[in-house]
Amino acid sequence: MNDIGNEFQLLQEFYKAAREKLSDGVWDYLIGGAESETTLKRNRAAFDAVAFRPRVLRDVDRVDTSTTLLGQKLRIPVVLAPIGSLQDFHPDGGAAVARAASGYGVISMLSSVSYPGLEATAAACDGPKIFQLYVRGDEAWVEDHVRRAIDAGYTAFCFTVDLDYYAKRERDIAKRFVTTARSVAGKNEEYQRRFSWSDIARIRRRFDVPLMVKGIATAEDARLAVEHGIDVVYVSNHGGRQLDHGRGALDVLPEVVDSIAGKAEILVDGGVLRGTDVVKAMALGAGAVGIGRLHCFGLAAAGEVGVARVLEILEDEIRACLGMLGVTRWTELDGSYLQAGAPPVQSSAIGSAYPLLDEGY
Ligand code: FNR
Repeated sequence: MNDIGNEFQLLQEFYKAAREKLSDGVWDYLIGGAESETTLKRNRAAFDAVAFRPRVLRDVDRVDTSTTLLGQKLRIPVVLAPIGSLQDFHPDGGAAVARAASGYGVISMLSSVSYPGLEATAAACDGPKIFQLYVRGDEAWVEDHVRRAIDAGYTAFCFTVDLDYYAKRERDIAKRFVTTARSVAGKNEEYQRRFSWSDIARIRRRFDVPLMVKGIATAEDARLAVEHGIDVVYVSNHGGRQLDHGRGALDVLPEVVDSIAGKAEILVDGGVLRGTDVVKAMALGAGAVGIGRLHCFGLAAAGEVGVARVLEILEDEIRACLGMLGVTRWTELDGSYLQAGAPPVQSSAIGSAYPLLDEGY
């Protein structure tokens, strides 16, 4: 086993190492949510409220954890969610994340407010990548970004649509902490506020690139997305960082799956910290699952190799979980392997995934 493999054997070891490396301000920016952090906690609570119904005495010697998204093979059904200010966690920022993802065999998404930017990240990594935009300019500005992303070889273009108003991230405000992303994303917000389905329709007409909308939180909007020719509907509450008192992302997923009825691919994120979380989302009909903070723990702790090691550990957990459920590939998995309404195990958002942390580990 290589050094990183020895150093990091548990996902929560990345959490701990990231905490030690980052300043208080950057740490709170990373882990915090909006206002009372109710949505943030519900993201984890939604996973905790689902229990498995395993089947036994099946041959599970070979388990295939791979899938595809937009025709691209994913070694595990995981996408690295777009994160602003990655450079605050590690100087290589989005380039390190993109290289780790493609080296390992998954897709990363580059946020428009992360260093080193659209072209430089594409130059740093020729594997599949998705570009995510916050609308901070007029029609021409948006279309320029779509054109540049296509020219730079991005696999798909994503609009994040749950940030019309930047929510009160009270940990940041209390510390008077402003990230580089906030100083960019906080400007010209009126363009995002005016951005609507008619703009999506225009982009769809003018560009031949797979389109994603990230921040869908209802069946109604999922249906509208499909009607507007969106290729990937991304169920997300921004990791509990935007509208507070929302539903846990996993709780939103079933109605979106029903309403889309196979007409678009579906991503979901929010609270995924374990292989079991990935398996639950897949059993409920996701095509793949986004991880936000989790890959940032890897990045902050150990840069590019840290992100790759996070993915390896996640893969081990996913494989073991599928095997213990009696499943050898994703097509065998469905809702019959789950039971809703399991009693919560504990209340703390991170501790529900990593209980050793609550014991001072
Ligand atoms: C984000 N998220 C985000 N989303 C987006 O579309 N563009 C962005 O620039 C950012 N920036 C960002 C920064 C940080 C520090 C976090 C934690 C999150 C949201 C992100 O893509 C994803 O939706 C959530 O992180 C998913 O929740 P988990 O996996 O972090 O629980």
